[in-house]
Amino acid sequence: MSKKDDSSSGASSKLWGGRFQAATNPTVERFSASIHFDKALARYDIRGSIAHARMLGRAELIPAPDAEALVAGLEKIADEIESGAFPFDPALEDIHMNIEARLSNMIGPVAGRLHTGRSRNDQVATDLALYLRDACAAVQHGILDLRAVLVERAREHIDTVLPGYTHLQRAQPVRLAHHWLAFFELLGRDARRFADAAGRLGECPLGAGAIAGSTLPLDRDDTAAALGFTGPTRNSMDSVSARDGALEVMAAAAICMVGLSRLAEELVIWSSSEFGFVELADAYSTGSSLMPQKKNPDVPELVRGKSGRVVGNLVSLLTTLKGLPLSYNRDMQEDKEPLFDSIATLGDSLEVMAGSIATLRVNVDRMAEAAQDPMLLATDLAEVLVGEGVPFREAHEAVGRIVAHCVAGGHDLAHLSRETLQGFHPAFTQGSDALLDMERSFAQRDMVGGTARTQVEAALDAARTEIDASEARLRGVNGVTAESGP
Ligand code: ARG
Repeated sequence: MSKKDDSSSGASSKLWGGRFQAATNPTVERFSASIHFDKALARYDIRGSIAHARMLGRAELIPAPDAEALVAGLEKIADEIESGAFPFDPALEDIHMNIEARLSNMIGPVAGRLHTGRSRNDQVATDLALYLRDACAAVQHGILDLRAVLVERAREHIDTVLPGYTHLQRAQPVRLAHHWLAFFELLGRDARRFADAAGRLGECPLGAGAIAGSTLPLDRDDTAAALGFTGPTRNSMDSVSARDGALEVMAAAAICMVGLSRLAEELVIWSSSEFGFVELADAYSTGSSLMPQKKNPDVPELVRGKSGRVVGNLVSLLTTLKGLPLSYNRDMQEDKEPLFDSIATLGDSLEVMAGSIATLRVNVDRMAEAAQDPMLLATDLAEVLVGEGVPFREAHEAVGRIVAHCVAGGHDLAHLSRETLQGFHPAFTQGSDALLDMERSFAQRDMVGGTARTQVEAALDAARTEIDASEARLRGVNGVTAESGP
């Protein structure tokens, strides 16, 4: 068989085919192709190519009319991708080759000038940086929407009380608003993690070439500015080998998912008959195929379940990178599927959690009933003794014995006479009726971060102000669009 016969899908048809004589093995072709997932980078790839082509023209590295032809062709390809008409071809490996090959079909040999001073290594690093910045902005929007829902529902439930739990045992009464504002805080830190990660993706890798830059006088400042970066990256080898930006975003996604998973877990527990604290809206729950009476919390369960995948995605890329020498290695192509999956999963999870909470029916009476348990005020009783000058450890011990007395004899902690209390500690001056009162218990927790009404009101106002400020800031994030890519 002659070499030519042998090359039907091969050597000459590849953009890198020059030094090859035989065709690629079909399994290798399928094995190495990434187009089925990296097509999600198309719009970033085209944006990067347009900036690069314009720079080549301005720097007179290619004739100005050729630069214009490249840009016009790339813009047409962007439309084709947008409309679904673009003919993605797995034989062309990845998004970069697909676009360049299409450009060549469209505008002829001039297309061959686009890759001047560029490699797929700096190209994919640039695409990823652009994608990650958009993804960070989109996730921040999603987090903000959920935080806004939490604040809204919290305001509605400022006077709804429920037991706060530690060890899933009733601990002390809290306002539902206070409880949900705890998640507001958690999610605020998540949002800042994404903003921080985006801040470290401000430098443009384009111009690093395959590893060591280019002999051609590329204007890296020009492409960096055109793409909205603060400037070019400072080391060509780092530019093509770094994936810590992706790791950081995936770590932020994993942490955020774990937080959502905890919120989800509460919805699952709270919607059980045993708790009966909340009921999920029909739109956010599902039925059983067998048991007609069931209404299942599948949505929060799936958020909880998918958090495992997002954690796994982070571990996957960490493991991929762990043993890699500098600089680019093909292993790094494995960054994309877990990354895209984490961003898509997090985006969906934020949205369904916002919807679930927004439409949740709260059983205020059931929560209040659980919070009425007088034992929840045992700490308050110990603090009454502290107010009388008793050391806390001694007060704790005395109230512990009082609790044991109540449990053993079926007595109500809130209705013990002065004499009974004095039997446990002489510093008591009144019966527990006079000492323990839920309303007062709340009112007394009046310090920053506490669950007193005044504090929670202030926290709600601060939350609203924070949301308005975040909204204004996000609207102006670097002119980056809110699209998350795939
Ligand atoms: N598809 C590749 C990736 O995602 C693009 C870079 C390929 N570079 C190369 N030298 N083969 O990593």
